[in-house]
Parts: sequence; structure tokens; C-alpha cells
Amino acid sequence: TRKIIIDTDPGIDDAMAIFFAFQAKGLDVLGLTTTFGNVPVSVATQNALTLAEIARVNVPVASGASVPLVIPPRPHPDFVHGIDGFGNIDYPAPASSALEQSAPEFIIEQVRKYPGEVTLVALAPLGNLAKALELDPEIANLVDEVVLMGGAALEYGNVSPVAEANIINDPHAADAVFTAPWQVTMIGLDVTHQVLLDNSILERIKAKSPEQGGFLYDCAQFYINFYSNRFGVDGCYFHDASTIAYLLDPSIFGVELGAVRVACDGIGIGQTIFCPEGMEYPEPYWDDVPMTQVCMEVDGERMLRLFEEVMTA
Ligand code: BDR
Ligand code: CA
Repeated sequence: TRKIIIDTDPGIDDAMAIFFAFQAKGLDVLGLTTTFGNVPVSVATQNALTLAEIARVNVPVASGASVPLVIPPRPHPDFVHGIDGFGNIDYPAPASSALEQSAPEFIIEQVRKYPGEVTLVALAPLGNLAKALELDPEIANLVDEVVLMGGAALEYGNVSPVAEANIINDPHAADAVFTAPWQVTMIGLDVTHQVLLDNSILERIKAKSPEQGGFLYDCAQFYINFYSNRFGVDGCYFHDASTIAYLLDPSIFGVELGAVRVACDGIGIGQTIFCPEGMEYPEPYWDDVPMTQVCMEVDGERMLRLFEEVMTA
């Protein structure tokens, strides 16, 4: 089994990813770490606890970044995930509480406890990972892999023409993660905008597992509404849960290698700039930047089938 820590801002698609990971054989979720993003960090933490309670999984939750490293915070997208992060379903507060330990401390502790074994799955702005690196740079050599949902290499952005939400919410943190000497796999809009999850799948999951499936179905209605109004599609894009699909079956994706840097100011703020392996430029920004695996292609049908199989098993 593969040990993972999920860094998250639940978030409706975060909820899908977290249940998917809990349910999947072969993944051992060591903990959930939370950050601002879709909602303030206090709400993200409550939501992470709620998800663990619904799934009846005993997993620690550690609360982390409340604001970006450098830039002022952007407004939370309550028009996408609702004010509660769950599509305004008015779900009761969780009974459990988070660890005293902060998210970056939890990440460092677990990575040091299991050297070479922990994969960080990031579904949100990257402040917790950046902070963990800053506190203990050696963890870059001790982490198995960082698999993140974020960015757009060649696809248009979803917050600006070039920027995806998780990256633009904390561009400095994202640039620190892409330039650290660990293996990063980026699953961005290049692939997630190719995969649409619709109600028929959610209905089948709900029929099989009324608690988790019913919860996802209820949350997703607000999210699907947003996507159908904004993009004219019948469903919602399959963002965060793609990371879990990648862990379970990377052959679903077509990957390109290259350096990724993040624009940290100006009109391009939040852009993930992709420099394919082998291209050489005199600009110093590209010196010694490690290679990121950037997912460019996806077999969407296989990915959705895998999600449904795991969630209805
Ligand atoms: C990402 O932004 C958030 O709104 C989603 O949860 C996902 O992590 C998609 O751009
Ligand atoms: Ca998210």
C-alpha cells in the first residue's frame, strides 16, 4: 500500500477525492491537512473532519495555511463550492476536532517517520507544502512523490486566461513546490477539463452507498449548476479526484516532462509556465529547475469507470 497525506480545501471535488482515496485498496491515508482556498481554513478543517466522520475513517486532521505566503488573499469562490464548501447543504458540524500540530509540522513528522514512502497529494493552494519545505528542506529528498491538482500548461486558466485557482491563490508557494528537488506530478486543467462527471454516475454511487454517495450527490448539485451555467456542460469537471486516479492507475494519463515555474505578479500571475525537457533558454529562471511530470492527456472514460468501480465496490 502507498502512504499518502491529502492536503485539501474541501471543497466539493476535494470531497470526491477524499472518499475515493479512503475507499481505494492500496492507499493508506495517513492524514488530511487543510488550507484556505475554496473556503477559509477553519471551514476546510471542519469539512475534512466531517468527511472522515461520514466515511467512518479514523484519520488525523491538521489545520494549516490561512493566507497566501506573500500576496493578499483573494475572495473565496462561494459561487463554485457554496459558502460552506459543500454546496450550501447545511450539514451538521463534526463532533471530532483537529490535531494541535499544524499541517506543515504533521507533514514533516510523517515524512520523517516513513522516509521515502510518503506521497503528498495536494488538492489546494500549496502553502502547507511550501512551509514544510521551508521548515525542513531535507524532506524534499524523503518524500516519495508530490501529486498535485493545479495549473494549466497549455489549456486556458479557470481564474484568469492563464491561471488555475489552486496556483493563483498562492503563486509563491506553488513556485517553491515546482522548483524543489522532489518528484512532482502536475494534474492540471489540461486533463481535468477533458473529464466531465455527470449525475448518472453520482446516482449509481448513491444507490450503492447511500451515506458517502448520497453526501457527494447532494453537494455536487450546486457544483454542477455552476459548471453548466459557466461552461454550458452537463456535469462538473473532475479536478481533485484525478490525483487519486493517477495513484491507482497512472497509465490512464499521458505525461510530458518539463520544468514548471509560476508567474508571481503582473498580468500573468498564477500561470504555470511549462518549459519542455530539452528546450534551452538563456533566461536564468530556467537554470536547474527540476523536471515535473505534467499530465497532458487522459482517458476520461477509464478514469470515470475507475472512480465508479472503487466507489461502488
Ligand atoms: C481546483 O480549485 C478548487 O476550486 C477545486 O477544489 C480544485 O482543487 C480546480 O481549479
Ligand atoms: Ca481543492
